[in-house]
Amino acid sequence: MIDPRTSIISKRLSRISRIIAVSSGKGGVGKSMVATTLALTLVRNGCDVGLFDLDFTSPSTHLILGTNLRRAKPKEEKGIIPPTMNGLHYMSLVYFVGEKPAPLRGAETSNALIELLTITQWGKLDFLIIDMPPGIGDAVLDMVRLIKNIEFLIVTSPSTLAFETVRKQANLLCELKMPIIGILENMKMDTRNCIQMETEKLGLRYLGEIPHDQQVEATIGDQPKLLATALGKQMRQVAKIVALTKKSEE
Ligand SMILES: Nc1ncnc2c1ncn2[C@@H]1O[C@H](COP(=O)(O)OP(=O)(O)OP(=O)(O)O)[C@@H](O)[C@H]1O
Ligand SMILES: [Mg+2]
Repeated sequence: MIDPRTSIISKRLSRISRIIAVSSGKGGVGKSMVATTLALTLVRNGCDVGLFDLDFTSPSTHLILGTNLRRAKPKEEKGIIPPTMNGLHYMSLVYFVGEKPAPLRGAETSNALIELLTITQWGKLDFLIIDMPPGIGDAVLDMVRLIKNIEFLIVTSPSTLAFETVRKQANLLCELKMPIIGILENMKMDTRNCIQMETEKLGLRYLGEIPHDQQVEATIGDQPKLLATALGKQMRQVAKIVALTKKSEE
């Protein structure tokens, strides 16, 4: 059966120039940190940016941003208008479920995702950054099905265990002919370059490395502090690459 919401989603997203899913087959590699910092960096660069937290089981971008959920709330108006904080348009499932656990299963998750994409009115944006849940299954396939012009930015840690899952994800996305901006190596603790070599063997762009930095934890909830870390610095490079990838494709 055709779901009428899918055509509404296309309309809702039609005024967004770039939609970038920050994703990883592996959990805990820093997707939420990277997605949030990239969104804040693009705002600093003068772009209109939205950040969409689609990690239904453990949404965390509101904590990284230090958002006061009661003060900055979505507005209802023929759908839901995301609140804007320091220039960043923001939407998360936490607005609907609060801090309570939201244990969704299979089809329910897919349905919640479709619903949120259907009701959210982003308007015109240069970038929509999506913080994805871990894994290469349902959420990724739903996004590919629902968002025609989605691009993926993949995060890995230096561990072979993380990279092997990321490799599977990258192969799957390549088979589906989805654009991959590149692979970013986070939490690096040595100078080995195997992830870079493996990334290049896959024919993908290596987006650089972010050192493991104990200061990062202390920046949660403090945006200027976060942007001043090595992670913040690397995201300025990534933001430049992101801008260039589109230009070279056009
Ligand atoms: N470069 C870094 N240096 C040190 N700690 C980091 C770095 N990047 C992220 N972290 C920390 O690692 C933890 C996981 O980060 P984050 O929540 O962004 O990962 P995630 O991939 O989104 O996890 P999940 O799969 O659960 O969504 C957090 O405690 C975060 O503070
Ligand atoms: Mg996360």
